Amino acid sequence: MNGPTFPPGFLWGAATSAYQIEGAPLADGAGPSIWHRFSHNQGRVANQDTGDLACDHYRRLDEDLDLMARLGLQAYRFSIAWGRVLPTGLGQVNPKGLAFYQRLVDGLLARGIQPMVTLYHWDLPAALQDRGGWLNADSPAWFADYSALLFRALGDRVALWVTLNEPWVVTVLGHLTADHAPGHRDLFEAPRVAHHLLLAHAESVAAFRAVGCGQIGIAVNLEPQHPASPSPADRDAAARRDAFINRWFLDPLYLGAYPPELQLIFGAAWPEITGEDLRRIQAPGDFIGVNYYSRGLVRADPAAQPLGAARITPTGVTLTTMDWEVYPAGLTEILLWLKDRYGNPPLYITENGAAFDDPPPVNGEVQDPDRVAYLSSHLGAARAAIEQGVDLRGYFVWSLLDNFEWAQGYAKRFGLYHMDPSTQTRTPKASAHVYSEAIRSNGAKLVPSP
Ligand code: FCB
Repeated sequence: MNGPTFPPGFLWGAATSAYQIEGAPLADGAGPSIWHRFSHNQGRVANQDTGDLACDHYRRLDEDLDLMARLGLQAYRFSIAWGRVLPTGLGQVNPKGLAFYQRLVDGLLARGIQPMVTLYHWDLPAALQDRGGWLNADSPAWFADYSALLFRALGDRVALWVTLNEPWVVTVLGHLTADHAPGHRDLFEAPRVAHHLLLAHAESVAAFRAVGCGQIGIAVNLEPQHPASPSPADRDAAARRDAFINRWFLDPLYLGAYPPELQLIFGAAWPEITGEDLRRIQAPGDFIGVNYYSRGLVRADPAAQPLGAARITPTGVTLTTMDWEVYPAGLTEILLWLKDRYGNPPLYITENGAAFDDPPPVNGEVQDPDRVAYLSSHLGAARAAIEQGVDLRGYFVWSLLDNFEWAQGYAKRFGLYHMDPSTQTRTPKASAHVYSEAIRSNGAKLVPSP
């Protein structure tokens, strides 16, 4: 099939994050992160998996750079492990840790691949957690100092920066449901952590403006929230979940206020927030990074506190192994919603992809038709949004390689490349070939869904 192409200059990439692929978490003087701690606490991660080896990317950097070049990537989004660069989170720089990211950036540029650097993808230095982590009012300043260090070290070679990856997940899974590091379950902590994350983003953007190069944004997980029935209770539940997930971070950044629903959801746990803080936070970056996987189908559920709303798993639809519905129309919907609500900001899809139970490699290849169909339909949905005026600048597949999927361990495979954890062998999946073709043809060749 030859369809219309994407706009000239549309950026085609793939994404990963440090703790999920690097391995060697304590190598060369790196300080441990909260994920190192969390995954070593028995019972917190499926199969008791840890990121100790992951994809061994720290040691296999050159091999992986070559693999990206073979794929034809134009851009690569990766994150920096804060504790490699600053082992205790502040103060003394670890030159060997910094050198790894310098080699990575230079290796990308040598292969004509543009780096997109995420400064924080969930692996806070454990030493900062010992000082309260994101609950500490100094955490925005810690993050600004760490960011400024990297702007100075890499700013001459990196044009695209992401401050925080999915602050909602840090807030809710890390501090409200205990599913992620640091494993807290505290209604009072969550909104305070969210507020500090927003201040951290704003201070990092300010530090970036002082150095003055390239573009900076935030990556947020977004999903349209649809009521499971037309009942007023379900409709209200979907609206609450929309405030909770989609608007919690973007409204303060772009509109200068938290969604009013949040105060009702958190009740007495909602903190006093000063006008001055809100003014500091209203510092949108240069783009929004959109991480899109699925939609939320929502039912009112008084037992699901504090929201009174629960996501249900629909039947009769295709689900990924994360139990997420394959719902490409939601991507068009959320991109149009961003355009209308926040004044048509530049957007990148910083993550999109799917986990399926892939068969093992046969003759050096893995057949993954479900993933091919997923990528094809979602790229079609992205293109539909562009046709309706959305300023979408690029697309990053999650993920380059099968990797450590947080609390789910290695069982969930999102990669374009199959990774065998016992041998570290990388094998291209059919989706890698299809994605290569899509890149080469600027989207004209998108294999239709079977
Ligand atoms: C996102 C994360 C990413 C990966 C995908 C599947 O929420 O940003 O690290 O785990 O989900």
